[in-house]
Order: sequence, then structure tokens, then C-alpha cells
Amino acid sequence: MNVTMLKTTFKEIFEASPEQAFFAPGRINLIGEHTDYNGGHVFPCAITYGTYAVARKRSDNLVRMYSMNFADIGIIEFTLNQLDYEKEHNWANYPKGMIRYILEAGYQLPSGFECVIDGNIPNGAGLSSSASIELLTGVLVAGLFGIDIPRLDVIKLGKQVENQFIGVNSGIMDQFAIGMGKKNAGILLDCQTLHYEYAPIKLENHKIIIMNTNKRRELADSKYNERRGECEEALAQLQEKLPIEALGQLSEAEFDENQQLITNETVRKRAKHAVYENVRTVKALAELKTGNIEAFGQLMNQSHQSLRDDYEVTGIELDSLVEAAWAHPGVLGARMTGAGFGGCAIAVVANEEVENFIANVGAAYREKIGYNADFYVASIGDGAKEITME
Ligand code: GLA
Repeated sequence: MNVTMLKTTFKEIFEASPEQAFFAPGRINLIGEHTDYNGGHVFPCAITYGTYAVARKRSDNLVRMYSMNFADIGIIEFTLNQLDYEKEHNWANYPKGMIRYILEAGYQLPSGFECVIDGNIPNGAGLSSSASIELLTGVLVAGLFGIDIPRLDVIKLGKQVENQFIGVNSGIMDQFAIGMGKKNAGILLDCQTLHYEYAPIKLENHKIIIMNTNKRRELADSKYNERRGECEEALAQLQEKLPIEALGQLSEAEFDENQQLITNETVRKRAKHAVYENVRTVKALAELKTGNIEAFGQLMNQSHQSLRDDYEVTGIELDSLVEAAWAHPGVLGARMTGAGFGGCAIAVVANEEVENFIANVGAAYREKIGYNADFYVASIGDGAKEITME
């Protein structure tokens, strides 16, 4: 991806030169899935795939946006005082929602702007292309107009877009990872307190491979909201006896002792996942810190099993990829990443096995599912930022 192409397109589309350039990454989550909205820990990192924009200020209050990923849709145009969700504005609802909440938070934009966007995050793959474009809009607006918006506020505004403007009841992990990402580091985030620490990801002679099922995440949003509801139900029943605010506050033993308070068996399994996954996530950081990457890989595997059996958000495509990965030589661990129901999985694979891994796991997947998976070597990169125009 290079900014030169964006500049050229900008000149063609808007017949002028852009002034500034911005980037926001996608993310993978190493471990800690469906724990963020349960007040638990997550351990994501930003990746070097992401979304780029070049932009320039206008002298009126029009916003004009063009995405090279949705070229057929053309330019989407709206004014700063017409910031309601509109179905036909398609992808631009994400930046539009972001602009709206930036204004509602009390920041002032002196004018509109125009921008060209291009991304290399596979769309709908669960690598957070939506949070990427939210954060991209945040840094773009702040950078273009010289407004100082604290990074945590940009992150929270992005989450607000997802929850209120788009209507997905997601937690804070994606926006946080994309806003705070740091090269070669994972972020252990306590989603209840928002305390976080960076942990260097040293996997010795291993690479993180992203495996895309290429299964669209249909119905994913409604199932996501359903899981959230089940966790709230479990929490309410536990609260009849326990003085807790979130499932993430429970140890495994406390959960085991009190799980009978949850009357519905399915709901009990959901809560078990949330509690155990949170504990695994904290352990995973400890293992990484002492360099025990085998133990880290084991925790990844347990995470996937729990997401498959107790949380039930995997599905045949993710399970086939992950199970083929587990069976392959040189693999320390593998699990789905993100919300699930399709999307991507990750595997930690020995350098010398990467090529075989991609060939063999790819063939096993094609044979079972009938179409190809895609594989990418992940590099861990920085969070959203202004970049040079080159
Ligand atoms: C999606 C959501 C996140 C998180 C994950 C599951 O990516 O946006 O907030 O809940 O699913 O861990």
C-alpha cells in the first residue's frame, strides 16, 4: 500500500492535492475473547494491515469521501449539520458517526473536508476494518484541524459509533488496540478499569499466521448481541448472592462454587467461558513474560476449545482451520480471533514450517469446506497516526 496511489486518486477525484495523510491499523486478539464486555482482560495487538487516508480541508461545511475499496459507490457527500445514519451511505456511516460524536463531545470543526481512503484489511474478516476506519476518522479530523482529542476519547467515541450509530453492542477491545497499538507489542488491557500494559511479543523462531476462513460473518451481529445478553443474565443471577459488577471479577473457584445460581444451562456455559477465558488471558501474559511460549500456545488452544464448546461462536469453518493447525508440526497454538462466526483464526507457527503449514492447512480446509482460506503472516505494528505524505 502506498500513499502515492492515494494522492493520484485524490487528484483524479477531487481535482486538487491532498494536504495530509493518516493510517489506522486492523487488529488481532492473541487471547481473551468475549471478555471485554464482561469486564475481563483482553490481549490484542495492532497489525500492519490497515486503512489509509489522504485529505484536505474545504472552505464550506461539506464532507466528501471516496473509498478505493468501494469504488463503485463513488463519492459520498454530506454536510456537518446532516449527520444521521443513512443506509445508502454504506461504509461512510462509520466516519459519519465518528464526526457526529466528535462534534457532540464539544469539539468544533471549522469546515468540512474531502478524503480518499484505501485499506488492505480483508473486509468482513473479523480484523476490525470498522474500528480501523473509526479511528482513522478520529486521527484525520484531529490532525487536519489541529484539534487535540485525547487518545482515550477517540477510542471511546469509536466504540460509541459501533454501539449507538451502527447498533452492534461491542466492547472496547478493537478501538483500544487500534488506538494504542505499538510495534512488536501486545496490549494486556483490563476492560473494567482500562488499566493496560504493553508486553513485547517475543515468539523466538515463530510467526503469527492469520488464517481467513473467507466465511462472511452473516448474522454475526445479532448472535454477538445475543451472547452479550446471555452474559448479562448470568451476571444478574450471580449478583443475587455475590457483590460483583462483572463476570471478569470472578476466579475459576468462585465461579465453580456459585454456578448453580445460574438456572439455564446454556447461560451457565457462556458465563463459564467468560470467567475462565479471563483467567487464561492473565496467565498468558505471565507465561509470555517468562518466555514460556509453549504454555502460551496451550492457553490459546484452550481458549479456542472454550469458544467452540461453551461459548459456541466458532462454526465448522473456524474449527476446521484451527483443528488442522493443531495437527500440523511446528504449531505452538491456534485459535479463532475476534467475534467468531466466521472471520479469522491465528496460529503460532515455527519459521521453518510456515510454507508447509500454509500448503497443508490450506489443502485440508479446501477439501472439507469446498473453498479456499487465505493466509497472511502478521506483523505487529503501531496504532492510528498521521503519516508522511512522502
Ligand atoms: C468483536 C468486538 C470486541 C470483542 C470481540 C470478541 O471484535 O468488537 O469488542 O467483544 O468481538 O472478543
